[in-house]
Amino acid sequence: MHRKGFIFDLDGVIVDTAKYHFLAWKNLAKNLGFDFTEAQNEQLKGVSRADSLQKILNWGNTSVSEAKFQELMTLKNTEYLGYIDKMDDSEILVDVPRVLDFLKANNQGISLGSASKNARKILEKVHLLPKFDAIVDGNDVSKAKPDPEVFLIAAKAVNCKPEDCIVFEDSVAGVEAANLANMISIGIGSKDVLHEADYIFKDFSEISEAFITELINK
Ligand code: G6P
Ligand code: MG
Repeated sequence: MHRKGFIFDLDGVIVDTAKYHFLAWKNLAKNLGFDFTEAQNEQLKGVSRADSLQKILNWGNTSVSEAKFQELMTLKNTEYLGYIDKMDDSEILVDVPRVLDFLKANNQGISLGSASKNARKILEKVHLLPKFDAIVDGNDVSKAKPDPEVFLIAAKAVNCKPEDCIVFEDSVAGVEAANLANMISIGIGSKDVLHEADYIFKDFSEISEAFITELINK
């Protein structure tokens, strides 16, 4: 049996935190005097916290000082963490534990590759932290997706070459990063959005053990 590296994005792949990012960003925009829509929130998937704030300020035709920018990031994250604090296992997306357990039973490398600086906290809240051999998150990278840095570090962390890795991603930037890293990209979500991925599934319930075995033996 071969040993591959399976790298999971967090937000939108393991848990749906986009709704909490939305609530916190919307509130921030409201306090600055403009609106923030769900369509705009969609465009922030996979985008780092600082880049997200910059985009939101641009949408609101607003600019702030560097000190205010830092203050706004802290404010947003404090509200976001309030929502995260209430999370539990019921928020794990369908069939994620089944796939993680199957990979573990087959001695595969399991890494997290997320832009979030809150990744460990979220995985702890939903009790999935022990399932990962390595966690690579927003604290470990200097370049945001679509730069492949996060996935290249995640591959190294489980002693796998990039071409032996498979990435699960829900964002366009993340799929692009996986492709640039020379890894197999698996889009989780809509075929219309993630068409650059090597494979696309609505969610993990569509991912069979036979398919995973095929990836392992590739
Ligand atoms: C993920 C989410 C983004 C979020 C980013 C940073 O990529 O999809 O919406 O902005 O992580 O998350 P953080 O928890 O560090 O603010
Ligand atoms: Mg994501």
